[in-house]
Amino acid sequence: MELYVDTANIEHIRHAAMLGCVSGVTTNPSLLAKEDPSVDVKQRILEIHELIGGHLSVEVVSTVTKGMLKEAEDIISWFPEATIKIPIIPDGLAAVKELSKKGIPTNVTLVFSPTQAIAAANAGATYVSVFMGRLDDIAISSNDVLNDICEIWEVQDYESKIIAASIRHPMHIIEAAKAGADIATVPYKVLMQSLKSPLTDSGLEQFLSDYDKMQTERQKILNI
Ligand code: E4P
Repeated sequence: MELYVDTANIEHIRHAAMLGCVSGVTTNPSLLAKEDPSVDVKQRILEIHELIGGHLSVEVVSTVTKGMLKEAEDIISWFPEATIKIPIIPDGLAAVKELSKKGIPTNVTLVFSPTQAIAAANAGATYVSVFMGRLDDIAISSNDVLNDICEIWEVQDYESKIIAASIRHPMHIIEAAKAGADIATVPYKVLMQSLKSPLTDSGLEQFLSDYDKMQTERQKILNI
């Protein structure tokens, strides 16, 4: 399972890109606004693109097919490898169909059920983003929904890649990987949490202190 970082924060993306374990970035209008409500979206997206050099999903804000297609055209003119993020609404599906005919990658977002995921796959979505945290927020098991979708993908042999999105904690990453999601898009804070273990910290501290002891003993012998 690949890891993407789910943020529009430049410093976080710069650091995540350095880690070597992150291959893409997903953004949405809320993530962009959180960093800077007056942001020049095109400029910020191009900065992110330069930093990550891999997958970058950019979301449209129009809710009608024609508007979505026009926005997609604009985004592609900023950088041709862009993945166009489109909400799972009827107009969105029609836009996905059109873009897929032209070979433009799409990420169908705000997916909360297997039936929505099936519709997105049939429209030709390159990626389908299943929102885990927001399902758990309303007491629907995101694990069950994601498992159902992954099972359907296996049976039906759908080509769209499944992105586990709206990740809130490291357990979501584990559940997504076990279910068979292709990608988990993870907020920077959760990404960093997922790398930590108190045993790594204490183990490293012990290794370094033993190394220091060894050096001190060796120095004593050499000075004799
Ligand atoms: C990713 O594609 C989504 O935009 C994102 O994961 C939403 O996360 P949230 O539910 O924490 O806002």
